[in-house]
Amino acid sequence: MRETSVSVDDLIYPLFAVPGSGVRDEISSMPGIHRQSVENIVKECELAWSLGVKSVLLFGIPETKDEIGSSAWDPKGPVQQAAIAIKKALPDMVVVADVCLCEYTSHGHCGVLDGDTVHNDKTLPLLAKAALSYVEAGVDIVAPSDMMDFRVKAIRESLDSAGHTNTPIMAYSAKYASAFYGPFRDAADSAPSFGDRKSYQMDSANILEAIREVQQDIDEGADLVMVKPALSYLDVIRAVKDMTNLPVVAYNVSGEYSMVKAAAKAGWLDEMATANEIITSIKRAGADLIITYHALDLARQMG
Ligand code: PBG
Repeated sequence: MRETSVSVDDLIYPLFAVPGSGVRDEISSMPGIHRQSVENIVKECELAWSLGVKSVLLFGIPETKDEIGSSAWDPKGPVQQAAIAIKKALPDMVVVADVCLCEYTSHGHCGVLDGDTVHNDKTLPLLAKAALSYVEAGVDIVAPSDMMDFRVKAIRESLDSAGHTNTPIMAYSAKYASAFYGPFRDAADSAPSFGDRKSYQMDSANILEAIREVQQDIDEGADLVMVKPALSYLDVIRAVKDMTNLPVVAYNVSGEYSMVKAAAKAGWLDEMATANEIITSIKRAGADLIITYHALDLARQMG
């Protein structure tokens, strides 16, 4: 009589790629999650694959940052290098790359600055360049998380004109300005050096706006749409699921993961029972795919 079940096929596992070799540093605010150089990323992908997790989401922490985030489209960048190596070792692993400038800009904002504000339209060609460079390195799906307007269209046009007409775009469509990204910003070293992301990320009070954002991304050519974070936005996941027949992705973000880890470590929560309940509720709300740092732990338990 169980109405909802989560399968290992539903899970996408995020990974943080760094330059160099032999690097595997645990992120202190995200126990169990590491920043890793390419060969260790491949090892972790092999482990994921052996557990049945067939999709990973790559983030990169570059060697150098500048005003415009130019390391994002460096063919020797950590995401590009990781993608090449993963596809060589595991050709059927679905490699998704997050497309954003915040890990690559010296100021930590998701686009280029014009004075103290992010300039939407000047950012678009840069995102398109980064996305194309990931696809040329073998990435299967690009996932723009910057929240600029018209970035899905810009990326679609850039991929199409280079002949990558079959590469899907997974759009972070309803992405809220959230306190739950705190641990991620430690991991990716991407906290904004001034201000916040409220001019381009959404207000947690809004759901109609989420529908408009999703519709805009669909009109621009998104193939999958995402709601992020997940746990405080289950109603948004349901509303998005009900308005589109595209696959809906939910991102069970860093803060949601670290809260469970911390409480479990203190002996206050049963970690896997909690993780299972969270993932089941996200699926029940309407998510087809779930990005989660708990993916390997959940897969181990399912196996
Ligand atoms: C990049 C990006 C962020 C996350 C995914 N892509 C951080 C942010 O917008 O500040 C957050 C992921 C997480 O918290 O797990 N823009």
